[in-house]
Parts: sequence; structure tokens; C-alpha cells
Amino acid sequence: MSQDEPELPLALGSVREALRQRGTLELDEAAAAVEAALQRLSAIHPWAFHLHLQRGADATARVVAASGAERDCILWTHNVYLGLNREPSVIEKTIRALETYGTGAGASPPVGGFTGIHDVLARRLARMLGKETALLFSTGYAANVSALSGLPARGDLVLLDRECHASMFQGAALSGAKWMAFRHNDLADLEQMLARDARNHPNIFVAVESAYSMSGDLCPLAELMALKRRHGFRLYVDEAHTFGFYGTKGRGYCDEQGVLTEVDFVTSTLSKATAALGGFIAGKASHCTLLELSAHSYLAQACFPPALAATVLAALDEIETNEALAAALHANNRYMRRRLTEAGFDLGTSRSPIIPIRVADVATLYELAARLADDGVFAQPITEPGVSRGQSRLRFVVTARHTRAQIDTTVDALVRHARALGLLLEARHVG
Ligand SMILES: Cc1ncc(COP(=O)(O)O)c(C=O)c1O
Repeated sequence: MSQDEPELPLALGSVREALRQRGTLELDEAAAAVEAALQRLSAIHPWAFHLHLQRGADATARVVAASGAERDCILWTHNVYLGLNREPSVIEKTIRALETYGTGAGASPPVGGFTGIHDVLARRLARMLGKETALLFSTGYAANVSALSGLPARGDLVLLDRECHASMFQGAALSGAKWMAFRHNDLADLEQMLARDARNHPNIFVAVESAYSMSGDLCPLAELMALKRRHGFRLYVDEAHTFGFYGTKGRGYCDEQGVLTEVDFVTSTLSKATAALGGFIAGKASHCTLLELSAHSYLAQACFPPALAATVLAALDEIETNEALAAALHANNRYMRRRLTEAGFDLGTSRSPIIPIRVADVATLYELAARLADDGVFAQPITEPGVSRGQSRLRFVVTARHTRAQIDTTVDALVRHARALGLLLEARHVG
């Protein structure tokens, strides 16, 4: 880098673009610049990259840094909302399935990777959501890429909320259809696009998330339905951050909002509330058959291990019979939000158990995260490409397993460090 060139941005997602604008296109140069940015961030927050959890996720975990340093932390980075990865009945049923089915599935669905227990799970998910069929994928990412590349075709139009997950944008981009992003949760913007473009396309798909993964905002589904009735598009809803703990017996936020029957495609990962791996799309049988016969990640990717189907089935048993679990999660979410708001944090429009604390300056964000980690509180700094430029934040995922004491410790540490860094003025009201 020459002396008169400005320093590259710290957010790793922006480095390559900044290099491109400077005309630095060569791979090794780009990789070296990204490596240098990583080192600058790691110097601020040694725990931020290349960490591992010694014994996996729970409300607390031993975090091991790249340097080998270890620390017991309250963990706010994992999406196992109900803590079912630690539930004895779930673990026991998974072990029994391992003994019956062995470990890996060994093949994609059409060549025999699909087992009896996958079939039981697919049928149960379809029944639970009141849809004709559910198709299983190896991950939620693969489900979105497959569905949004396989359902729309050349000539069609796909409109996605700007905050939709990367897998949804990648799917739409692969489909050959025209795709555009509307402003986040802005149905007036969506309606303008529909009014302008609708007549020119045989099929229009609108893709949203029920709860957005980086902001914790909920989708205004009732209003969206009114728009759907007026414009007649196909609605695709990713319930990754609501399936299992919103709606009756965990059926999700579409169910809670009373719109589930009108949603054409419901999708979710199985790695969050249901504590396993995999994804699904539920909808009309003929649409699922079309996908099954055309989606490359269905045809050419191994099924997730059969024992994980048992994990999800066991998790669904817990979700359907133990409604106290979701209640505990929502109570923790309310409690943490109340404490943070009283301390003076602006939580914006977020509502779900994902709590963003916005810190626009990336270096300050990493400094805050590092100080918290030193105090045994581990939360994820999110910068580009996870969020757009200037929208960086510290993200807390609340679970049913967090205790009030852990929430209190976390909020107290956050208040202390945010004040020291000038991010939080004296509290408006405390206690
Ligand atoms: C909204 C959303 N959809 C899909 C996915 C991908 O799910 P998976 O981790 O199962 O690939 C995620 C994961 O972070 C997500 O947040």
C-alpha cells in the first residue's frame, strides 16, 4: 500500500471491494490484504477469529482462542434457542438412532441416502405445518439456495427483503429470474416494485424471513398477506429464527400470526431450535416434486445423517409437549430487553430473541466485544457482509438456558464497558 492511499477498511467484508476499487485484483495480493485486516482486528479482539468451544455450546462455554488462551464465558453466539442440544431425552434418542442407522447417510436422497427416519421426519414436518409435503435438505442454506434457484425460472421475478439471508440471495441469483431487494420491512417499497413490474412476469416470488437473523426484527406478515391478496404473488417465508418457539406448539411465526395456510413455501433450518443439522421446505406436493427433480443440492448432496433426523424428532417431541421451554425463552428475551432498555440502550425495532447493540465504528465494536470477553461475556460482533456498511453491531442470541443471573452479569458488563467507550450516556433510568 502506498503512503497516500487510505488504510483499508477493518470490516473484512469490505476489504476486497476496497481493493477492487483501487485496481488490486490479483488473488495473492487480495488474500494478503484480508489477512492483514484480520490481524488488525485480532489485535483488538484476540477471541474473535479462529476460536473454538472446548465442549460445544451451552449458556456457558469454555472458549479457546487461536493463541490457545482459554476462558469460561457466558455464551450469546449460538442459535440453539431452546437448549435442546443438551436435553437428555434428545441425546438418548440420537444415540439409539446412531446404533440403528450408523453414522453418515452416505448418499444423496435419490440414490439411497434417504432413510426411514428421514421419511418419518419429512412427514411430521409437513403435518405440523399443514402443508402437503416437506422436502429435506442437508442444511438450511442448501434448502434456500435450492428452492430459490429451482422454483423461479428465467422470465420470473423474485423480490427479497434487503435483510434476507445470503442463501436466499444466492438462490435467487442462480435462478435466472430477475431479482431485486426491497427496503427492509418496507411494504410500500415492495408494493411499488410490484405495481411497476408485476405484469411483465409469469410468476412473482416474494421472499422474507419471519424474524431477521441480524436485527431480530419480525416480519409484518399480516400486512404482507393483504399485499399478497391484492397482487397474487407466491410467498416464501424462512422461519429459521422462529420455528420451534413461536406459534402453537412451535409451528412458527406464520402460525402465530394466523397466516400459515396462505404461505406458499415455509422453510427453516433444523440447526437452531431443533438442535441438529439440515433444512426443509414445506409446501404443495407438486412444487416439492419439481424441486426434488431439479435442485442440484437435493440430487447431488448427501442427506444429513439419519441420527440427526432422530435428534429433530426428539426435539419436536420436547417442543410439542413442554411448552414451558418456549415460555422460558420469551421470558428471558423480555427480561434482557427490559434491562438493556432501562440502562439506556436503543434496541430499535428488534423483538425476537436476537438482540442487536449497534456500534457503527468497527474498531470500537471489536474493542467492546474484547472487553466483554475478558469479563467472561462472549457475543458476536457483526460487520459487513453480515450487515450493510455503517450498521455493525454486537449480537446477542437469548436462549431458554440462560439464567437471570447470567443476563444480569452480561447487562452490567455491557453497561460498564459501553460507558467507558463513550457508547452509552448515563442511564436514563436504572432499577
Ligand atoms: C435466516 C436463515 N436462513 C438459513 C440459514 C442457514 O441455515 P443452516 O445453518 O442450516 O445452513 C440461517 C443460518 O444462519 C439463517 O439465519
